[in-house]
Amino acid sequence: MVVVTRPATEPRPTPSSPYRRGPGFRVSPHAVAHSKEDVVKVQKVLVAGAGQMGAGIVQVAAQAGLQAVMIDIADEFIAKGMAGIEKQLGRAVDKGRLSAADRDAALGRIATGLDVSAGADADLFIEAAPESIDIKRGLLEAAAGVLRPDAIMATNTSSLSIGVLSSYVKSRARFVGIHFFNPVPAMALVEVVRGPETTDETVVAARDFCVAVGKTPITVKDSPGFVVNRILFPMINEAVQALSEGVASADDIDTGLKLGANFPMGPLALADLVGLDTTKAILETLEHDLGDARYRPSALFDEYLAAGKLGRKSGQGFYTY
Ligand code: 3HC
Repeated sequence: MVVVTRPATEPRPTPSSPYRRGPGFRVSPHAVAHSKEDVVKVQKVLVAGAGQMGAGIVQVAAQAGLQAVMIDIADEFIAKGMAGIEKQLGRAVDKGRLSAADRDAALGRIATGLDVSAGADADLFIEAAPESIDIKRGLLEAAAGVLRPDAIMATNTSSLSIGVLSSYVKSRARFVGIHFFNPVPAMALVEVVRGPETTDETVVAARDFCVAVGKTPITVKDSPGFVVNRILFPMINEAVQALSEGVASADDIDTGLKLGANFPMGPLALADLVGLDTTKAILETLEHDLGDARYRPSALFDEYLAAGKLGRKSGQGFYTY
């Protein structure tokens, strides 16, 4: 197998960037193991976070026949996450894409809990908590304390450094980014992000898991925004800035991109789907870690966030839901 070694494309240096080049950065993100020996086959997954991403991951895992455990910090979040999964599976039954028996079987494969001990025997742990390094650190440390030593540990972070997050687990070799897209059941892509010390076997196990849950993985270097968000979010930001400058209405901006560039939904509707708080946080991380002001979030985000307009999840963003 040919391992492609890319030219040295390192992020623009910033003094505090967690992405400054270390020895591990020289490993090709495309390298994968030649043999599948020692690769963990995931049969049970523990997902921390019952929000849109966590619940979506649990849904696709359970639908694919895997055992799934979904944890969150309060019963109300678990209940909301389960209600979302039941609604999605119910819609699939109504559309004739899923039998009622398969829906019930998928739901039967989902367990829930309030801490990591609920899934201590999982083969794969994925944290899908909010983009706060402190929250993720707490979860990773707790999971590392209860999981089997051979379990794979992963983060669904959209923008934080895999290298930094890997310092919170026992085995950096078994730590990897598994980045799903929203809405998880509908989006085919997963970015598998190789951290500085992630082994080929871990990358293979992560990619195999993605394929098992019906997704197409791409392997990506640990770099700000990985591939998709780095390219997608500046475009969303530009749409927000265009709205702020009165270039066109939200509807017309979105219609422009839908009909003029064949986007499935406009960038402002997409920001509402992702959440305006999350969108702004991703842009801030890109600006900081790439050291480039062109990623700076439009000031219009602050107006919306100050008014509690977070997008779909709050019922109001650029549109009303
Ligand atoms: N949850 C789960 N499934 C959903 C869903 C949701 N909220 N919304 C739609 N779907 C599913 C539907 O069930 C349907 O499935 P089916 O084809 O098997 O019946 C399918 O998606 C299509 O749904 P609809 O026909 O109702 O609607 P559309 O055709 O308009 O598609 C869409 C909806 C899939 C959301 C489409 O508009 C789209 O692809 N939008 C772009 C989404 C995108 O770019 N996501 C990436 C965001 S960035 C990100 O996630 C990165 C992270 O780090 C923040």
